[in-house]
Amino acid sequence: MASFPTRRLFLKSAAMAGTAIGLNALSYSRVYGANRRLRIASIGTGGKGWSDLNGVAASPAVDVVALCDIDSSVKHLGQAAQRYGAARKYADWRKLLDESNDIDGVLVSTPDFMHAPISMAAMHLGKHVFCQKPLTHTVHEARQMQTAAAKFDLTTQMCNQIQSHSAYRTAVHWVHGGKIGKVKEVHSWQGGQPSWPRNIIRPQGSDPVPAHVRWDLWQGVAPERPFKLDMYHAFNWRGWQAYGTGQLGDFGCHILDPVFKSLKLTSPTKLTVQAPALLPDSWTDRSTVHYEFPGTKYTLDSTLMVTWYDAAGVLPPREKLGDIPASYDLPSAGSVLVGEKGSLVIPHVAMPRLFPEEKFPTDELPVIEGVDHYTQWADACLGNGKTTSHFDYAGPLTETVLLGTIGIRFPDQELIWDAPSLKITNHAEAQKWITKPYRKGWEPSWV
Ligand SMILES: NC(=O)c1ccc[n+]([C@@H]2O[C@H](COP(=O)([O-])OP(=O)(O)OC[C@H]3O[C@@H](n4cnc5c(N)ncnc54)[C@H](O)[C@@H]3O)[C@@H](O)[C@H]2O)c1
Repeated sequence: MASFPTRRLFLKSAAMAGTAIGLNALSYSRVYGANRRLRIASIGTGGKGWSDLNGVAASPAVDVVALCDIDSSVKHLGQAAQRYGAARKYADWRKLLDESNDIDGVLVSTPDFMHAPISMAAMHLGKHVFCQKPLTHTVHEARQMQTAAAKFDLTTQMCNQIQSHSAYRTAVHWVHGGKIGKVKEVHSWQGGQPSWPRNIIRPQGSDPVPAHVRWDLWQGVAPERPFKLDMYHAFNWRGWQAYGTGQLGDFGCHILDPVFKSLKLTSPTKLTVQAPALLPDSWTDRSTVHYEFPGTKYTLDSTLMVTWYDAAGVLPPREKLGDIPASYDLPSAGSVLVGEKGSLVIPHVAMPRLFPEEKFPTDELPVIEGVDHYTQWADACLGNGKTTSHFDYAGPLTETVLLGTIGIRFPDQELIWDAPSLKITNHAEAQKWITKPYRKGWEPSWV
């Protein structure tokens, strides 16, 4: 196998750091003028990557220059190669980045554990980044992504695309407009039943690697393991600690997003998780996370409790939800913001509802239109407007979600979080999970 050119990339990046800093989004637009186009590469073209690619390429100013996927079959690289016939094709993202002089921006739609290694390498080369949620696999990586985007002055967007949907934008608008007054507490949940494996022992043995899959490249920075058919690639990696972030990681950056946006939350100061004992390799099938945040101008008190629940069929306790009548069926996933003047339900994904209904006549409520989360990034890269899930926002949101996944390892133990120093100050064992070991030769380049 070819050796990993992280070091080569890193050395090149060090040399290019000046270029990255000198040629930021603003100066690019000055260099290229108003007619410039955005040349993109897509890494991870199957699964969600297919819609990410088509979503960004829907901008008439975008050219798809390169495609990369470790799986050459039709569902993965194949269909993208067919639609974007002129684009160069790669199996290895490191080679793509080595040949990326004509690329302005990169879409990273791989499984969670590869978001940061690929995005960091791209940002070191001065590329704008559109990255899937959760932004990263560890808290340390999230802070690194936020720091790199700021340092290199790049246009970034995390793909928690519901943020741009009319439903979430309307909910945020109502809170900012004072509809429910100051917020007293928040309950967020995902009660759906995932189809991917959780709470199971890692299978023994190995299966033959299909000819169209580059298993070594798929494993990237993760510990080396034998290939097992349909166990990890594709989609099912979510339930495994080495690759995914479980149900909280899968949905937290969506469902907690309008909570963060509307209340202008940043970092929690403490959290306590209730969850069953975690098996060595897979994620749990249930957790409840009690976060305490510093209050903001939208909260009633100087602190705010946000409680997250995930388990199949789970809903938050109704008695804690304020003015919601028993006749209203809560959605299977969403949030309730309990305010001084009423309760706001933000379903995932449907228009928000205000209770008690008689206080909020529907025809008097403003509805905010949606915007395109994908082309918003392309436009912003070209100097038109700004992204709303840039890494300065998505970093702290992802850190919060991933702190919850650390808490799952230490049930019923309060963790005290000092965001500026990136430290769980009262728990040395939990602190170790802020980062993780990387496969030798695949260590990411940090800033
Ligand atoms: N925003 C959303 O609504 C949403 C929905 C689904 C998934 N996601 C996110 O999208 C990401 C991908 O999830 P998915 O369900 O599509 O997974 P998937 O496994 O189905 O697809 C990932 C794609 O990336 C390819 N890939 C894997 N490793 C790669 C590598 N190192 N280099 C290049 N290509 C690689 C795979 O072959 C596959 O085509 C995850 O981060 C997930 O959380 C977001």
